[in-house]
Amino acid sequence: MKGQARGEFSSRLGFILAATGSAVGLGNIWGFPTNTAENGGAAFLLVYLILAFCLAYPALMAELIIGRHCRANIVSALGGLPSGKIGRNLGVAAGLVGVFTASAILGFYSLVAGWMVAQLAAQGATLAGADGLADWLDRQSLARDMGCALIFTVFTITLVGEGVKEGIERWSSRLMPLLLLLLLALITYVMSQPGAALGLKVYLLPDISRVLDGELIISALGQAFFSLSLGVGTMLIYGSYIPREENLPTLGAAVTLIDMGVAFLAGLLILPALFVAQQGGVEIYQNGELIAGPTLILQVLPTLFDTMGTAGIIFALAFFALLTIAALTSSISMLEVPTSLLVESTVLERRSASWLAGGVIFMLTVALVIWFDPLFALVVTATTEYSEPLLGIVLCLFAGWVISRNKLLEELRHGNPDIEHSYFWKIWPPYMRFFCPLLIAAAFIQSLR
Ligand code: PHE
Repeated sequence: MKGQARGEFSSRLGFILAATGSAVGLGNIWGFPTNTAENGGAAFLLVYLILAFCLAYPALMAELIIGRHCRANIVSALGGLPSGKIGRNLGVAAGLVGVFTASAILGFYSLVAGWMVAQLAAQGATLAGADGLADWLDRQSLARDMGCALIFTVFTITLVGEGVKEGIERWSSRLMPLLLLLLLALITYVMSQPGAALGLKVYLLPDISRVLDGELIISALGQAFFSLSLGVGTMLIYGSYIPREENLPTLGAAVTLIDMGVAFLAGLLILPALFVAQQGGVEIYQNGELIAGPTLILQVLPTLFDTMGTAGIIFALAFFALLTIAALTSSISMLEVPTSLLVESTVLERRSASWLAGGVIFMLTVALVIWFDPLFALVVTATTEYSEPLLGIVLCLFAGWVISRNKLLEELRHGNPDIEHSYFWKIWPPYMRFFCPLLIAAAFIQSLR
C-alpha cells in the first residue's frame, strides 16, 4: 500500500451488515426464487440449503481467513502467500482472474439493477401523474437501459469512493434493515391474498424424485456461490477489514444464515405472488413449467401489481425499491475488489480508484446493452458457473494447503482462544483441504456432461 491507512469495519455488527449487504442481492430476491420456480420448487430449496451449508460456508471461511490473515486485496494476498516463485505467479494469476470476474459480474449486474431503477422510477412517475415518462421508463430501449445503468453505477462508485467505514459500512447499515422491513411487509400482503396457499405448497413440499437431478444440483451450487459472493475476492477483501479480535467462524456463520434466511423469505414472497397472479387471470406456466427469469420479475409481477389498483403502485414501488437497495449493497462490494487492488498497488487514492474502476466496468455494461443477445448470457454463465466455482476451489486450496496449519490456528485463535478444542477445528481444516475442493469439482464436472 502506498502510504495510506487501511480501512477497517468499526464493529462486529458493521461487518455483518456490510457482508450480508454484499451477499443479499439480486441473487437472493430475483435469482433464488426464479431458480426455485424453474427447478420444481421445494426440491431446489432443499438441495440449495444443503449445499450452502456444506460447501459454500466452508468456502466463505476460506476467503475470510485468507483476507484477515493477509490484510490485502485478492491479488496481493494470493501472490504473497506461497514461498516459491511459481506459486506466487500462480497466486497473482488466480487473483487477477478474481478481479476480472468481479468486474464482469458488476458489468451485467449494473444492467439488471438499471432495469430495477427504471421500474422504480416508472412507479414514481405514475404516482406523480407523468404518464409519458412512466411509459418511456417502462419500455425497453437502449437509451433507457444505458441511462438507468449509469445512474446505478454512479451511486455505486460514489459509495465505494467514500471508504470502508463511511461508505460501505454506513450505507449497508442503513439499507439492510430497510430491506428486511420492506420484504416482511410485502410478504404479509401477498400471504393475505387468494391463491397464496398454492404457491406455498409448491415452494415447501419437495418432489423428492428431482433432488438428484444433475442440472438442479449445479444450479443450486452456482446459486449458493453467487449468493454468498464467493470466488471473486469480495469476501476476502471484506475479511481483510475485520478487526483481529473478532471470531471468524461465528461471523461467517451469521452471514451465511442471514443470506439463506433472506433468500428463503424472498421465496415466500415470489412463489405465492405467482399464484396470486394466476388467480387474477395471469398465465404463469410456459410449456408446462413455471415462468421464470426476467419474464417473471418484469412482466408477471407487474401484471399482478396492475390488478391491485393504487395499492398496486405502492406495492410495486416498495418491491422495486427493495430490489434496487439489495443490488446496491452488493454492487459496492463488487467494485471494492478492483478498487482495493488499485489503492493498494498504485499511487491512486480511493476516490479516483473507484471512478477509474467503475468507469471501465461501465464500458462493459454499455457493450452488454448494445450486444445483449450474443453477450449477456455468455458473460453470466462464464462468470457465475465457471469462474466462481473454479476460483472457489483455488481459494480452498490456498487456505487449506498454502497457509500452514499453525498459522491457520493462530489466525482463528484471535477472537476465539479455545478454538483448538472445538468441533470446528477438528472438522474444518481437513474438510477444506480435501472434501470441499473435490465436491465443488465433482459438481462442476457433472455440469459439463
Ligand atoms: N451475492 C450477490 C447477490 O446475491 C452477488 C455478488 C456476487 C456480490 C459476487 C458480490 C460478488 O446478488
